[in-house]
Amino acid sequence: MVQRVFITAGASGIGREIARAFAAQGANVFVCDIDASGLDNLAAEIPGLATQVCDVSKLADIEKTVAFAADTLGGIDVVVNNAGIAGPTAPVEEVTPEQWDKVIQINLSATFHVTRLAIPYLKKSSAGAIVTISSAAGRFGYANRSAYSSSKWALVGFTKTLAIELGQYGIRANVILPGTVEGERIQKVFEGRAQISGQTVEEVKLASLANQSIKQLIDPRDIAALAVFLASDHGKSISGQMLPIDGDMHQL
Ligand SMILES: NC(=O)c1ccc[n+]([C@@H]2O[C@H](COP(=O)([O-])OP(=O)(O)OC[C@H]3O[C@@H](n4cnc5c(N)ncnc54)[C@H](O)[C@@H]3O)[C@@H](O)[C@H]2O)c1
Repeated sequence: MVQRVFITAGASGIGREIARAFAAQGANVFVCDIDASGLDNLAAEIPGLATQVCDVSKLADIEKTVAFAADTLGGIDVVVNNAGIAGPTAPVEEVTPEQWDKVIQINLSATFHVTRLAIPYLKKSSAGAIVTISSAAGRFGYANRSAYSSSKWALVGFTKTLAIELGQYGIRANVILPGTVEGERIQKVFEGRAQISGQTVEEVKLASLANQSIKQLIDPRDIAALAVFLASDHGKSISGQMLPIDGDMHQL
């Protein structure tokens, strides 16, 4: 069976690695993102990739995009809810209602909308699977990141509920909780901290990994491989699970 895979926010970062990994397995992949040029670049890289510009904070965009994805792919077997924003870094009493709402809208409500609109298609699939990207912030408290952490914990509850509701239709739902992911952005954060503190970038990096048993940042390709596995036939008995991939983080 050629899997038909719908991925949100896949023009860069983890979502792009997930798109690459599914495509490498021979899947038919549809990626949506708010970033049109990022989508064009990825489409140039992956032959046959279908794309659509979509702002997941807008319900009308999601409605159009899920329907278009199902049309383009001829159905949907796998949904990857990857879209998520970091939101404000501030103590709770300084987070504005607007900032809070935006994070909940993109990280939680968009996942709800994408999923609820995709379920009718997944029910027609012989092996429906939902993979949602939460975060280590979805299993720990995270000082100054209340909106992000709350939204990511909520995705765990959403996934566990989906698994119970949809098991009877042969649809599985699982949630991946990545730790700090290797990439340009975190590298810049380390460089900034090194400049301020007078430490080397390597020292800053090691200090940031003090809360992990395995002293490495997370390779986004490993997250993608986990998503592919969860959606594969070998994952057929795995549902309702939260899978941390964070070097055994102890706290945030
Ligand atoms: N990077 C990390 O360290 C990390 C760690 C744990 C969890 N996560 C989670 O993984 C997911 C992907 O993270 P990332 O770091 O790869 O993301 P990212 O910030 O690199 O963004 C990925 C994509 O999201 C798109 N996007 C942003 N707003 C959008 C919107 N409103 N509608 C549609 N697309 C939109 C961007 O254009 C971009 O292509 C998120 O849910 C994030 O919370 C990331």
